[in-house]
Amino acid sequence: MRKQGRPLQSYFPTILQSSSVVTFARISNRLTASMSKPTAAITAVHGYLPPDLLTNFDLEKMVDTTDEWIRTRTGVQERHILKGEGLGTSDMGAEAVKGLLAKRGIDASEIDLLICATVTPDHVFPATANIISDKIGATNAWSYDINAACSGFLYALTTGSQFIETGKYKKVVVVGADKMSSIIDYTDRATCIIFGDGAGAVLLEPTEEGTGILDSILKSDGSGRQYLHQKAGGSVKPASHETVDKKEHFVFQDGQPVFKAAVKGMADVSAEIMEKNHLSADDVAWLVPHQANLRIIDATASRMGVGPEKVMVNIQRYGNTTAGTIPLCLWDWEKQLKKGDNIILAAFGGGFTWGAVYVKWAYNTPA
Ligand SMILES: CC(C)(COP(=O)(O)OP(=O)(O)OC[C@H]1O[C@@H](n2cnc3c(N)ncnc32)[C@H](O)[C@@H]1OP(=O)(O)O)[C@@H](O)C(=O)NCCC(=O)NCCS
Repeated sequence: MRKQGRPLQSYFPTILQSSSVVTFARISNRLTASMSKPTAAITAVHGYLPPDLLTNFDLEKMVDTTDEWIRTRTGVQERHILKGEGLGTSDMGAEAVKGLLAKRGIDASEIDLLICATVTPDHVFPATANIISDKIGATNAWSYDINAACSGFLYALTTGSQFIETGKYKKVVVVGADKMSSIIDYTDRATCIIFGDGAGAVLLEPTEEGTGILDSILKSDGSGRQYLHQKAGGSVKPASHETVDKKEHFVFQDGQPVFKAAVKGMADVSAEIMEKNHLSADDVAWLVPHQANLRIIDATASRMGVGPEKVMVNIQRYGNTTAGTIPLCLWDWEKQLKKGDNIILAAFGGGFTWGAVYVKWAYNTPA
């Protein structure tokens, strides 16, 4: 403890001798910090949706439901389904990344790292990211998957941005892709109405302009697994005739507890990231919510005080594509995004997992 009465300078004689020295040191520290730590900017976005459609009217013929019930309870009108022998999540992811590279005018060999968020990998192993890298010819990239269900894209985006911020890599691709139709029971009306297939991808590159991924808050609570999971096919209950007969390789969801947790989780974390970054609703140009249910999206926007004109919603056309929803929204709205726009990405999903990411948009798209 510092003794009473003794001047502070006597403890730090060299530093505090001259205030101009101190000021210089502070400025130089700040400059060094800002120069040496780039942020990860999203410099391109692209998506892929398979051509086949499954409409609410198609579902009316498959299960006991109605177009009206699905639209009013979820917001979904139709979803895309990947059909074709031997096609999986990696095929959609590869198409999204090919479009991304063409748009940015770079070669796949320039990618340093490719991360794929998915809960519907082509195989339990190898990672779908490895397969995407092979399909697009990303011969110099290392690659891995992240499984955080509907929050997967935010987990992968945050992870990928760290490699740019440290200065280790210059080009990181983050993919969110799911072939949900491969794990949906089309006789279960509680789940088959919600999900669809699709993929989206972004390219992360370093910038010193103050744009890019500026903050993220990510959370998980594994005790929520009882409400949303796949019962069989993992190490606890490997695949067997019995598990197949009991349809245990499909998504199991107890909708109401998931709905309640999603409304609270997504709204709370979105408000938290705004508060942490001193953003008012007026400062936010766009909310990009995970597309699980229109009512969850509305609750999040209203908690943030953000009007519907600033909320990206495409659930009516794609349903819930799990890890694909957020990059698919960015792709759909890309032309309307302006350099410097403050964007909040928010998600909630199985695990439970949830989170929000604060992005300052890095480019204007030529008309
Ligand atoms: C699944 C979900 C749409 C169901 O909506 P809900 O309003 O909670 O509906 P409930 O499950 O309470 O069911 C209400 C009634 O509709 C019926 N119902 C359920 N699915 C139906 C369907 N597809 N068509 C018609 N009726 C249906 C139920 O049987 C129930 O009937 P009852 O009142 O006679 O018992 C909703 O719970 C949800 O969106 N949950 C979260 C989903 C989610 O976010 N999942 C992914 C996490 S990212």
